[in-house]
Amino acid sequence: MDIYPLLRNGLFWLPPEISHELSLKALAWAHRYRLLKFFKPLITPVPCYCMGLRFRHPIGLAAGLDKNGDYIDALGALGFSFIEVGTVTPKPQSGNPKPRLFRLPEQQAIINRMGFNNKGVDYLVERLKRRSYLGIVGVNIGKNKDTPLEQAIEDYLYCLERIYPYADYIVVNISSPNTPGLRDLQQGNALVELLHRLKERRESLRQEHDVKVPLLLKIAPDLAEIDLVWLGGQLLEAGWDGVIATNTTVSRQGIENALHGDEAGGLSGSPLFAHSTEVLASLADVLQDRVPIIGVGGVMVGKQAAEKMRAGASLVQLYSGFIYRGPKLIQETVNAVRDLVVRRK
Ligand SMILES: Cc1cc2nc3c(=O)[nH]c(=O)nc-3n(C[C@H](O)[C@H](O)[C@H](O)COP(=O)(O)O)c2cc1C
Repeated sequence: MDIYPLLRNGLFWLPPEISHELSLKALAWAHRYRLLKFFKPLITPVPCYCMGLRFRHPIGLAAGLDKNGDYIDALGALGFSFIEVGTVTPKPQSGNPKPRLFRLPEQQAIINRMGFNNKGVDYLVERLKRRSYLGIVGVNIGKNKDTPLEQAIEDYLYCLERIYPYADYIVVNISSPNTPGLRDLQQGNALVELLHRLKERRESLRQEHDVKVPLLLKIAPDLAEIDLVWLGGQLLEAGWDGVIATNTTVSRQGIENALHGDEAGGLSGSPLFAHSTEVLASLADVLQDRVPIIGVGGVMVGKQAAEKMRAGASLVQLYSGFIYRGPKLIQETVNAVRDLVVRRK
């Protein structure tokens, strides 16, 4: 029985950030007392391999829900095959003033301008050390708001070094619309330098720890086609291991006149799906299977996960769909992509 819709109706009465925190705390509590079996849908594994890692199936949780790694075991127990924690920054920071999270239920969407609120990389490292979840855990890294853009690479290098021994993959987030200037790093010399310096440091960490932790870039859906093609070429040239397409959008297409539709921040959920999938397909055209893509953005039902894979994704992540539909969406998406995974193996 799926009792999530009932729970959600109750939670949606509360302000979004309070219900977000309450749900995660309740989830951790339910996990501790072994009650999650009432929520966890039955998921038959569909093993798949990507970036040298083995996944139980291709559906994971996107970054931003568990920023500090406090809920890895509980979220993992719901059936995700991989969980991306973060975005984490070198120093703790409180993020933007509240309110900074808005639900648009009619549009099945969310607008957020959280601004990388997190407890800092050292805290996350401790959480990663203590996890018992056996699935894949990726770590998404960012820069502190008060670090000048010209020194952003130092923040990424710092996080990369700290988390390297504890992460299964590492994502460099240069696509959040809520840290001023961050998305400028997706272009020109700034990108070229970032790709090369981080890859170089990864190579030395690989030697030091005798393990290759895949390095991925997470991109915005708002790049012009020409910039996207160029970015894909740079990823190939720098030899990165993967790319995540996409983050939230600054566009408001599809939510004109919606309540909260004019709030500043990144839009996610249903209105993001079509464009985010187009970006994924364009990138897949450039990358030609030489760099795997994780598809994310607006997956609210099973067949949309299948569309992401048909557009070129090797793995798919959920966020807003999980908030609106609950754990049942994990099972629905796994079932929808089952045949595609077999064909791509
Ligand atoms: C409240 C909220 C917070 C987010 N925080 C992060 C973050 O810290 N880092 C990140 O890379 N993406 C973050 N995202 C973006 C998601 O990981 C995802 O890329 C985006 O929401 C599109 O997927 P969706 O339409 O399925 O939600 C956040 C999204 C939401 C809704």
